[in-house]
Amino acid sequence: MLRAKKVAIIGAGNVGATVCYWLAMRKSCREIVLVDIVEGLAKGKALDITQATSPEGSHTTISASCEYEAIKDSDVVVITAGVPRKPGMSRDDLLMINAKIIKEIVEKVRKNAPDAIVITVTNPLDATTYVALKVGNYPKNQVVGMAGILDSARMETLISEKLGFGFGQVRASVMGGHGDDMVPLPRYSSVNGVALEDLLSKFEIEEIIEKTRHGGAQIVSYMGTSAYYAPANGAVKMVEAILEDSKSVYPCATLLEGEYGYSDTINGVPVVLGANGVEEIVELPLNLNEQRLFAKSVESVNNLLNTLKKSNFFEE
Ligand code: APR
Repeated sequence: MLRAKKVAIIGAGNVGATVCYWLAMRKSCREIVLVDIVEGLAKGKALDITQATSPEGSHTTISASCEYEAIKDSDVVVITAGVPRKPGMSRDDLLMINAKIIKEIVEKVRKNAPDAIVITVTNPLDATTYVALKVGNYPKNQVVGMAGILDSARMETLISEKLGFGFGQVRASVMGGHGDDMVPLPRYSSVNGVALEDLLSKFEIEEIIEKTRHGGAQIVSYMGTSAYYAPANGAVKMVEAILEDSKSVYPCATLLEGEYGYSDTINGVPVVLGANGVEEIVELPLNLNEQRLFAKSVESVNNLLNTLKKSNFFEE
């Protein structure tokens, strides 16, 4: 269904262009603008994707620019600009480079599309989401990071592969930061309602958890750069929930202000996504082990935020 909605995508690289392609093919919005510092790249991809719209019967128009005036009146801004991982790099290795890129972009986004809901995708995801919130001086609902949908999708795939059935029917839940300390939650995972713990042994579930944690690194080691189809899919789900005001529950990176016992930090938790962005945070009753794992994940994210704070990143 076509709505008169506008989405801006900052960064026309692998993730940004894939988000654009998917939104256009699904006719999720009326207008998309691709912004990149490399104007030719954004223009070329916009043209290429536009030429795929007609056979699909899509009326989505796609334009490209390196000027931020082009994002005016956007309902949603998806930030994918930055440097991706290379083999051997962790997401955290990207901290300083990508934090600076996000800072520069967010200042322009806030000025030109002040009311847009901002979805961050750039890694290290939890830290860049915090940077966007603070630099843009946004209310907490207006900035949300994409990671939990991707991590959950990876876990779902691993579960159906292990079972040999239930493809497309698995619902997995992954909380925590988008790093090696993410918190896959088998207790909240099921195959069309059948509890995962009734289908797989403890050992098999542990194996899936480990593979989920390293799912992104595995792709980097094969391709020499980071994944983009599944990350783009996660971002598209979030864009659509916001444009449709669907109030969908997804695990997303959001500012915690007392929820789960933590404050002034970003972490991945289930949220209700609607026209106002993060409309609610769902607080799951975690058992002691889950609480311990979540605490470790919060600590990892806080270490990154402290690195930024110590370098006076927010004062400059
Ligand atoms: N302003 C606008 N665009 C920028 C800027 C900037 N300041 N800096 C970089 N870019 C653009 C690059 O020109 C490039 O086109 O961001 C794009 C990034 O694209 P890729 O290098 O293909 O990276 P991609 O795989 O899309 O990943 C982008 O998303 O998943 C995360 O870890 C990933 O942080 C990475 C981000």
